[in-house]
Amino acid sequence: MDRSKTILCIGAGYVGGPTMAMIALKCPNYKITVVDINPKRIDAWMSDELPIYEPGLDEVVKKVRGKNLFFTTDIASSIRQAGIIFVSVNTPTKTFGAGAGRTANLQYWESTARSILEHAEEDTIVVEKSTLPVRTAEAMSRILKSGSKDVHFEVLSNPEFLAEGTAIQDLLDPDRVLIGAMETESGQAALQRLVDIYAHWVPKEKILTTNVWSSELSKLVANAFLAQRISSINSISALCEKTGADVADVSRAIGTDSRIGAKFLKASVGFGGSCFKKDILNLVYLCEYYDLPDVASYWQEVVTQNEIQSQRFVQKIIQKMFNTIVDKKIAIFGFAFKANTGDTRESPAIYVSQMLLEEKAHLAIHDPKALDNAKNDLQNCPGNISFYQDPYEAAEGAHCIALITEWDEFCHLDYERIFKQMTKPAFIFDGRNILDHARLHAIGFNVYPIGSEGLSHL
Ligand SMILES: NC(=O)c1ccc[n+]([C@@H]2O[C@H](COP(=O)([O-])OP(=O)(O)OC[C@H]3O[C@@H](n4cnc5c(N)ncnc54)[C@H](O)[C@@H]3O)[C@@H](O)[C@H]2O)c1
Repeated sequence: MDRSKTILCIGAGYVGGPTMAMIALKCPNYKITVVDINPKRIDAWMSDELPIYEPGLDEVVKKVRGKNLFFTTDIASSIRQAGIIFVSVNTPTKTFGAGAGRTANLQYWESTARSILEHAEEDTIVVEKSTLPVRTAEAMSRILKSGSKDVHFEVLSNPEFLAEGTAIQDLLDPDRVLIGAMETESGQAALQRLVDIYAHWVPKEKILTTNVWSSELSKLVANAFLAQRISSINSISALCEKTGADVADVSRAIGTDSRIGAKFLKASVGFGGSCFKKDILNLVYLCEYYDLPDVASYWQEVVTQNEIQSQRFVQKIIQKMFNTIVDKKIAIFGFAFKANTGDTRESPAIYVSQMLLEEKAHLAIHDPKALDNAKNDLQNCPGNISFYQDPYEAAEGAHCIALITEWDEFCHLDYERIFKQMTKPAFIFDGRNILDHARLHAIGFNVYPIGSEGLSHL
């Protein structure tokens, strides 16, 4: 096959898998291979049980797998065959050494650069798909130039803006595709080749092109702005609870202002996911590195507010339940960091559960898709924890329900049945403000949403 039409993606995760499946679907004239160092992940991509849950993903993968989309662990020969290599490996927060807890751990990233350098035999375009600190492409280019072979590597930045839970829709109809390239002749030629791929289905005006540094930084800034809106409305939810205002009314009132906009203004127990916290911390670290401490502390506060929000949620549970939750059964409804995914990375459910366990509560955890990950996340937490596929069993005998994930199914449960089975007085703490609070109160629950006073019988 023509190398220029042969794409490789290194990293078969939440981004690499769905993104490559979409390119395969929309570009039947390209051959796409996805590699990973984790053979279990690759096996799962080739099976009927894909390694990630994402609405619509199964259908797309079934259409293209074995035709022009392939999964393998053979990194060396895949690199040799590919003219374009996307790198979509994980870039988690560093947990050791300089910058620990803030900057990105680039060890997986660098190891892919070294593999590409070792195995590539002809000129290759390397596309940064992972979210990276600004100027990482420079380091990548330096590593790739350090070889002795006569091979030219052109590094492009093409950050991914999909959101888990809506990945397929986001990929099908993105708000924009962003591509950053060097302002050299070879950089612009490589950029055009990537534009040509996306142009198979994305309208030209939605394909934005910039220099590499703007592209790298834009991804961090996009996530920082999204998370900042959540922390902003969550900080206001605390004030609403003290003043008799209702944060849902405030959100609606300000969101209708076209300068503000309505999205990402829903108060909640806090944001989670593998990206927001890590990307903001990365931005904070970059600002410190470039001697901008005021800018760093401004963005740090977005993360701090988020941590305070889950602490406030737990404090409210304890306070409303007569200042003790020792040996009380608490049903946790939802463990995924958001609805329509099984991903629990940085889920507020992890922090809420840990705090409740420290107070010696018993946890009964239910989630439609994330129970395996929840078990994994809590495996080293001492305390009484049980897991339920069935929400009614989780709630049986519980003193309270703490709703953490906005799964639609939680809005359609039989709460009269649940109320009957629970220990009285029964409490619901709605960490996502999705339930019908007046109705639950009428059934007999003491109901505490986020950002309003709550409806109590006590
Ligand atoms: N998850 C999201 O919603 C999302 C959205 C946009 C951007 N991103 C960014 O995309 C990147 C990937 O995120 P993800 O959620 O897909 O991560 P992930 O952990 O789901 O997947 C990364 C995969 O890379 C593999 N890998 C690591 N080192 C490797 C190597 N040397 N060779 C081959 N495979 C290797 C891992 O085994 C893993 O399967 C991150 O930088 C993230 O910030 C994620």
